[in-house]
Amino acid sequence: MPEPLLEIEDLSKTFRRRVLASAARGGIAGADDPFALQAVDRINLTVERGDVFGFLGPNGAGKSTTIRMALGLIHPTSGRVRIGGYDLATDRLNALRKVGAFVEAPAFYSYLTGRKNLEIFAGLSGRVPDALVDETIDLVGLRGREHERVNVYSHGMKARLGIAACLLPRPELMILDEPTDGLDPHGIREIRELIKRLARQEGLTVFLSSHLLNEVENLCNRIAIVERGSIILQGRLDELEKTHRRLRIQTDKPQESAALLRERFKIEARPDPDARASLLVMPNGHATEELNAALSGAGHAVRHLAPEEAWLDRLFLELTTTKESSKSSAPMAGESLS
Ligand SMILES: Nc1ncnc2c1ncn2[C@@H]1O[C@H](COP(=O)(O)OP(=O)(O)OP(=O)(O)O)[C@@H](O)[C@H]1O
Ligand SMILES: [Mg+2]
Repeated sequence: MPEPLLEIEDLSKTFRRRVLASAARGGIAGADDPFALQAVDRINLTVERGDVFGFLGPNGAGKSTTIRMALGLIHPTSGRVRIGGYDLATDRLNALRKVGAFVEAPAFYSYLTGRKNLEIFAGLSGRVPDALVDETIDLVGLRGREHERVNVYSHGMKARLGIAACLLPRPELMILDEPTDGLDPHGIREIRELIKRLARQEGLTVFLSSHLLNEVENLCNRIAIVERGSIILQGRLDELEKTHRRLRIQTDKPQESAALLRERFKIEARPDPDARASLLVMPNGHATEELNAALSGAGHAVRHLAPEEAWLDRLFLELTTTKESSKSSAPMAGESLS
């Protein structure tokens, strides 16, 4: 039975931006003019126990604003948030009891050691025994470095310390806003593996925001993509993959191959916008072997035929480009294929 841990219903936030009247309408300089900005627009999503839920979107899409509302740090303009069945607006303490979170970069005392910082956090989360602080240090892989000052920690170690702070109250749900922000590829991978381990071995449910689609593809079982305050795609990653991930095909005769696939299999091929010599096709239930045999049988030299990499990235770019410019996807123009 799926058990919802975080339920977000019709959540919206409008900020009253204050802009100089002179900038807004050429009026008297210095006077303020309220200006509405809808940062979050009727978002609905449910994080179930056991999920690693990726909340994706470009800069300014409304991820942090949604997370702030989900943590009760700012009030929604409308809509509601329930955590573990408790309404955040009416039952705040019960709702937040089971949550560990960090929003953007967590702040530490840089002249104190990692352990001392955790002890301070432990004090804030109620009484956390020493043994639990030690266990947390082990969990995030900071053993051996815990007695060093935070100002000598790398970004990756600070990120792990941030996660350790979230783990201290032993939450059921961890909410992380851009946990890999500012990390290099090694750091990103480290945090990804840590979150995976916490989810698998400790049974932690995770809701995290990111704009790294490929990272999330590696980590999450469920995603929502938000753009300009609204969710444009949501679902289980395996189901989305079935309906959206294409095959990449490279042959020596891309145009003839596209024609063959259309005539014989009713499969529409399109050139990959990032690799012009490749075709992207939805196999529509046909096995890759079947397509390969047909192309080879017709004398096309098949150089590559495999599921596309970075499909979520491609899908996201397509969805957002289409929305912004109302352009359809790239046509099968002859000159676009080599
Ligand atoms: N306190 C605020 N007052 C006014 N506008 C705000 C406030 N906080 C956020 N915004 C605006 O709301 C929109 C969404 O911001 P938000 O920080 O939620 O985006 P984000 O998806 O987290 O982006 P990023 O990936 O850059 O962190 C932006 O246009 C931002 O400028
Ligand atoms: Mg943000």
